Amino acid sequence: MNRETALAAQAGQGALTGRRVLYTGASGGLGHQTTLDLLAAGADVFALDRDHSKNESLLADVPPDQTGRLHLLEMDLTDQDRLEARLGEIAAEGPIDVVINNAAIYPSKPFEEFSMEELRHVHQVNVEAALICTRAALPGMRDQGWGRIVNVTSITLTGGWENLVPYVQSKGSLLGLTRAWAREFGKWGITCNAIAPGAFPTDAEKIHPDPEGYTRFVLDHQAVKRRGTPHDIAATILFLTSEGAGFITGQNIAVDGGWNMT
Ligand SMILES: NC(=O)c1ccc[n+]([C@@H]2O[C@H](COP(=O)([O-])OP(=O)(O)OC[C@H]3O[C@@H](n4cnc5c(N)ncnc54)[C@H](O)[C@@H]3O)[C@@H](O)[C@H]2O)c1
Repeated sequence: MNRETALAAQAGQGALTGRRVLYTGASGGLGHQTTLDLLAAGADVFALDRDHSKNESLLADVPPDQTGRLHLLEMDLTDQDRLEARLGEIAAEGPIDVVINNAAIYPSKPFEEFSMEELRHVHQVNVEAALICTRAALPGMRDQGWGRIVNVTSITLTGGWENLVPYVQSKGSLLGLTRAWAREFGKWGITCNAIAPGAFPTDAEKIHPDPEGYTRFVLDHQAVKRRGTPHDIAATILFLTSEGAGFITGQNIAVDGGWNMT
């Protein structure tokens, strides 16, 4: 059995059967395959993304016997009133067992060129949306004494690239929230962890002027000499949302092939 088949089989073990998962940015470069793996693991996935064509492409890849468990929420996370209202409806139908705060934007330019409005916009998408999603799920998680929150941070918190001030700031906020939520919610059987992806070959990378040179640069920095895949992210999310991970909370887990060892 090759590695991809093994990971897909692991995802297919039904570990999340009956679980209702809210996943933001679910149709993106990492989200698309991860959503498919969560569905394969038996979850009902509330897949939130603003991008219509990416949502269509996600839907097209879902096996027919799983489409009933994919609930596409095509909306913009900055429309906070609509977001709160829609999540309120979902939570009223049943507990949201798992929240994955994954959506992010990552504008890149020198700090001084960002207007305050642009800085606030990044914070709204990357951080405030996580506050709203987590707050919507919390009462249901607390009532049932079980919940899992996963915040997606970034390798850029620990090193690497410049010209990403609001993005890195937002990931620092998510890490702070991870630890604060873990401390506050642990007594209710809710864990909160972060995962910090390394450099994954998603669309954002395709515009790189020297793709081969960039891949060499990435592999030179990683201990594991292959590029990461969305299955690597999915496998970590599946572990953190499993019963077996119930004693792990407040952590930021690097999924980067051993680039950062902190
Ligand atoms: N790809 C990498 O190498 C990498 C590295 C480090 C961290 N990350 C983190 O992983 C996560 C996923 O990254 P990705 O590579 O899949 O990015 P991506 O840009 O491919 O996906 C992000 C998704 O979020 C959606 N989104 C953005 N703003 C939105 C809004 N206002 N409302 C609703 N949806 C919105 C986009 O439509 C997109 O589908 C992000 O948190 C990112 O910071 C990725």
